[in-house]
Amino acid sequence: MSSTKILDYTNPQLNGTIIVPGDKSISHRSIMFGAIAKGKTTVSGFLLGEDCLSTIDCFRKLGVDITVEGTNVTIQSDGMDNWQEPKEVLYTGNSGTTTRLMLGILSGTKLHTVMTGDASIAKRPMRRVADPLRLMGAQIAGRENGQYTPLAIQGTQLKAIDYTMPVASAQVKSAIILAGLRAEGTTIVREKEVSRDHTERMLRQFGAQITVEDGVVYFEGGQQLKATHVNVPGDISSAAFFLVAGAIVPNSNIVMKNVGVNPTRAGIIEVLENMGASMKVEVEDETAAEPTATITIETSNLKATTIEGDIIPRLIDEIPILALLATQAEGTTIIRDAEELKVKETDRITAVVNELKKLGANIEATDDGMIIHGPTKLHGGKLQSYGDHRIGMMGAIAALITNEPVEIDDTDCIAVSYPTFFDHVNSLLNK
Ligand code: S3P
Repeated sequence: MSSTKILDYTNPQLNGTIIVPGDKSISHRSIMFGAIAKGKTTVSGFLLGEDCLSTIDCFRKLGVDITVEGTNVTIQSDGMDNWQEPKEVLYTGNSGTTTRLMLGILSGTKLHTVMTGDASIAKRPMRRVADPLRLMGAQIAGRENGQYTPLAIQGTQLKAIDYTMPVASAQVKSAIILAGLRAEGTTIVREKEVSRDHTERMLRQFGAQITVEDGVVYFEGGQQLKATHVNVPGDISSAAFFLVAGAIVPNSNIVMKNVGVNPTRAGIIEVLENMGASMKVEVEDETAAEPTATITIETSNLKATTIEGDIIPRLIDEIPILALLATQAEGTTIIRDAEELKVKETDRITAVVNELKKLGANIEATDDGMIIHGPTKLHGGKLQSYGDHRIGMMGAIAALITNEPVEIDDTDCIAVSYPTFFDHVNSLLNK
């Protein structure tokens, strides 16, 4: 199913306050950890995006009782040792996080499971997870030797490994750590660049011990998780679209509350500061498992920047919208070291460059990023989202600065991470 939208705004202004929906990464993990733990876990602020609903669906098929009431979720589990072998295929939809983390979790159970997802998932590399898990003893079969879904997993007793990550990926790191829960010995994961650490933080919330020293994670197998309450902060990757909108749409001032500002995710704040954005970040609760802030942004004069190196994993999902931001900044913005963009929901280097060019942007693709010359007045056009939620939202925010209609072929995909996105655009318009 897809829905074409024609967005036609004349001299819009964005003003007001929004509470962005729950963090996608943390929402997934709250369900997974609640299902692993024995007892009742409660979650507030859960993201009702399609990706997180796929995670719920997979665990229901494993016999875990999950109830959803608004953004509150209750997970009642007998613990991972008591999951049922599913008679059906586990369907992970568009969700890379579900597919990769489940691979780690399921490898150490006694169950036989088969996982598959949508057409985008079928193209995303899984050996980055399957290979280290196989070193732990996991039995995984799939197309091209486990590179692509559908994947079949025969759960077995695992042993710990000491693994150096070839790519900065929280999904790979988390899959290994979660497999390490049921492995003999101490699982060690070495990261060259720090990726998001929600798994490490949440394991502590569930009573497990995990040590992180100089980018090395140590995790002792055989630990039991204790059911608890998880409060999911707002998703900075969703807030990103309105941070950029507030900065580039004339006469705007947007306040966002309860935004998660975990330092392993908050690279966009540094970039906006470097580009000269008029922004205020007031930390609300620094002591929470996941710190939050109220962020205010207003229309800004922006200058170009270079985005490279170890900041990339801390803003990887924000690069499409940062590319749009750079089209409005004075000078040449360079984004490099971001080849991981090619294996996201779509090839985001190609998608961003193709689509922003259609609106008149001066942008070129490189092997590991893009180069953007600004500022450029963008015009209307017909865009494709490639079924990728973040490309669809980038196009919709671009429409706010064109003063001409922008047509986007498929906007349903936005519900993957931000089902209330257009409600929030409309609530901020011309107040
Ligand atoms: C995620 C990690 C990132 C990110 C994805 C969610 C996670 O992927 O792009 O949207 O929840 O761990 P990688 O870790 O593969 O870069």
